[in-house]
Amino acid sequence: MTRRILILPGDGIGPEIMQHAIRVLEVARDRQGFDVELEHALVGGAAIDAHGTPLPESTLELAKAADAILLGAVGGPKWDALPTANRPERGLLGLRSGLELFANLRPAILFPQLASASSLKPELVAGLDILILRELTGGIYFGEPRGIDRDAAGHRRGFNTYVYTEPEIRRIARLGFELAGARNKRLCSVDKANVLEVTALWREIVEDEGRQFPDIELSHMYVDNAGMQLVRAPKQFDVIVTGNMFGDILSDVAAMLTGSLGMLPSAALDANSKGMYEPVHGSAPDIAGQNLANPLATLMSIAMMFRYTFGEAKLADDLEAAVSDVLDSGLRTRDIAPADGAGVQLVGTDGMTDAVIAAFSRRLSA
Ligand code: IPM
Ligand code: MG
Repeated sequence: MTRRILILPGDGIGPEIMQHAIRVLEVARDRQGFDVELEHALVGGAAIDAHGTPLPESTLELAKAADAILLGAVGGPKWDALPTANRPERGLLGLRSGLELFANLRPAILFPQLASASSLKPELVAGLDILILRELTGGIYFGEPRGIDRDAAGHRRGFNTYVYTEPEIRRIARLGFELAGARNKRLCSVDKANVLEVTALWREIVEDEGRQFPDIELSHMYVDNAGMQLVRAPKQFDVIVTGNMFGDILSDVAAMLTGSLGMLPSAALDANSKGMYEPVHGSAPDIAGQNLANPLATLMSIAMMFRYTFGEAKLADDLEAAVSDVLDSGLRTRDIAPADGAGVQLVGTDGMTDAVIAAFSRRLSA
């Protein structure tokens, strides 16, 4: 079976990371018979420059035909002045909704080797392993009506609509329970049910769905409290399930607990486990093209792809273990190195990938 993976390098550090990340897929192919065919397409600013739109129809078609998509990052100052509807980010949003990638898995895992990089005290974050499950194709990001118009008095008025249907809530809630079932069996649903009707419905449906998962401990939290608890005592969480906008915010908070955005992978899945995989970090235009970018979030996104779309748990485990091996050996890109550089060896995007590939190959043949 040949798996078709669409590579979307995007902008900024995306292309240089992708050029190296692909080598990991080639190792899996050559060493493990992971039969794969790679296709390439443009998205984001690169697509705006070449085709005048952040999501060309040809890219969306290739994405629909692929089994999985690996995306670098989109955006940069060059396209900042464009109106919301034409920005590079639209490419991302268009892929999410066009492919119905409703489930966004954002793990926040702290490698023990990096505990001192967190802005929280090491004892609060040591061993941190939480999973944020963010609804990705609904909520206020996509609700209609939306726009900017004028009210009766002629004042400009901006508006968006926060809406969820019962089936949308049910399918993300169900996945939350299933994911918690494969972990520590605790699910926290985050809402603002004390103020917003849409999330009062959210809470009711999650509660109802929970009746089918009696072995999962379900709790509910208001989003403001959840933000506070994440920085006060993050290890109380196992899986957090929440809507699109709250998930956007809370996943950045959770990411920072681990000390480096450069370490975090993510998956966006449809109902059949087809997925788009991307690092949580952005396009970092300030360091683009300098071989400084940390490739580990993208490499671990490939591990998630092995696990969730292709059911290759062993490849996923080996790749994640390889990353840990490399951190053990003291190699660091600049973003995860201590300020004084003590006790570590600084490497670039290429050197870090080389080391992970070597460790991955060792693990594969062990
Ligand atoms: C994210 C990003 C995106 C979002 C932007 C780039 C559209 O912040 O993936 O978290 O808001 O979803
Ligand atoms: Mg975000």
